[in-house]
Amino acid sequence: MPTHHKLIIGNCMSMEEIEDNSVHLMVTSPPYFNAPFDYKGLFKSYGQYLGVLRKAAKEIFRVLQDGRIAVLNIDDMLVNGEKFPIVADATKIFQEAGFRYRDRIIWKKPDGYLRISRRSGVILQNPYPMYFYPDNLLESIIIFQKGKFNYKSISKEVREYSKVNIKELQNNKWYMTLWEMTNVLPGSNLEKDIAAFPEELPYRIIKLFSYKGETVLDPFAGSGTTMKVAKILERNSIGIEIKKSLVPIIREKMGLGNNKSLFDTESTFKVISREKVKYGYIS
Ligand SMILES: C[S@@+](CC[C@H](N)C(=O)[O-])C[C@H]1O[C@@H](n2cnc3c(N)ncnc32)[C@H](O)[C@@H]1O
Repeated sequence: MPTHHKLIIGNCMSMEEIEDNSVHLMVTSPPYFNAPFDYKGLFKSYGQYLGVLRKAAKEIFRVLQDGRIAVLNIDDMLVNGEKFPIVADATKIFQEAGFRYRDRIIWKKPDGYLRISRRSGVILQNPYPMYFYPDNLLESIIIFQKGKFNYKSISKEVREYSKVNIKELQNNKWYMTLWEMTNVLPGSNLEKDIAAFPEELPYRIIKLFSYKGETVLDPFAGSGTTMKVAKILERNSIGIEIKKSLVPIIREKMGLGNNKSLFDTESTFKVISREKVKYGYIS
């Protein structure tokens, strides 16, 4: 099935190019507040960071169709010994934007797959009380819904065509609130310096919460993982990314790099570049 993909280069605090009630699923991983690798010093304050999330949440609510799902992959962030309760704050922000908080899944990474420093090393160096800092192997996947879904709005044909493979669901334990998935390590080819999530994450979410031919939005597109998986799963996609420099990476991921044969001729990929895009934030 040909699919259509739009990449907007701009700040997702506004989604002016996207019509009201036109998106069927939102799945994203917002930037981490002050993560050492990617965004150190990017936000002046935690309040400013939450301000970005608040504006994005309002826009996500506006563009999503009634009954549809918004998924955030997010986690609390430790900065200079202080943990910022991002999961709780983002949940509140999405509720205030009008969403119903529907579920929380914990993503567990394999032991030894840490992306950031090994904090447990502190007590190994100083085996005394008060030196304990655990390694974090978990992230949250929080799921929100805009109103109630009308199951009758989907034709029988599309419903059957998008059927969830129960064997796949059972074998990989998608039915639990604990998802064990391997994360992308920094330095991986197309995800260098981008806190990319593994394809497995949007793969599960897209299969579980959208029908074939529908449109999936990722407002913090990064390397374009969601857009790539949406295409593979025969969904259209819209990505928003503030960093213009990621366009070639996203094109490559979508199969539009040197080896264009990965992108079928009937599908389309369009880049919309807003004028005066700055890599900055409005507080
Ligand atoms: C955690 S990364 C997303 C990674 C993505 N899930 C992937 O698999 O590659 C967050 C991305 O959001 C972008 N970003 C940060 N603030 C933004 C904003 N206000 N609007 C749009 N993109 C933004 C960053 O440049 C970064 O690429």
